[in-house]
Amino acid sequence: MKELSVKPVIMECQMTELSIDEQYLLTKAIESTNNSYAKYSHFHVGAALQLENGTVLPGCNQENAAFPAGLCAERSAIFAAGAQYPDVAVVKIAIAAREPGGELTAEPVSPCGTCRQVMIETETRYGRPIRILLYGRNRVFVMDGIKNLMPLSFTEF
Ligand code: THU
Repeated sequence: MKELSVKPVIMECQMTELSIDEQYLLTKAIESTNNSYAKYSHFHVGAALQLENGTVLPGCNQENAAFPAGLCAERSAIFAAGAQYPDVAVVKIAIAAREPGGELTAEPVSPCGTCRQVMIETETRYGRPIRILLYGRNRVFVMDGIKNLMPLSFTEF
């Protein structure tokens, strides 16, 4: 038997080390946390997408008393992009979150498995990797392509 190794590449930096465009995208994700409807978890997540044509689209989590009916910030942004700009590729996504006390998280918040799967579908749909920026007060994580968060993912049959 042979061991196959999979190596995710996750870059760590401070927000100020990023380009002005990427700092702006993170700022939009942070701003979007303020529109989140998180009545049950009090965990306010914001996302911001950058499309190939330069459009920036926000998203935030939308909760529901019937839990599975809610939606994460990432998918709310990606599905809004699909509805409004079906022919324009998603090139970047920034994600930020506030703890129940209202403070932005010290560490980056990583997307849930379902959102990772939706990001895989979006990369496949437009034929290009999505650059992912995860905000934390202490550090920001950056990666090129969701494969770094979800190796050996299911794409198509
Ligand atoms: N949530 C997101 O919006 N994105 C993530 O990546 C992780 C979790 C939301 C779902 C739910 O509204 C709340 O955070 C707590 O799980």
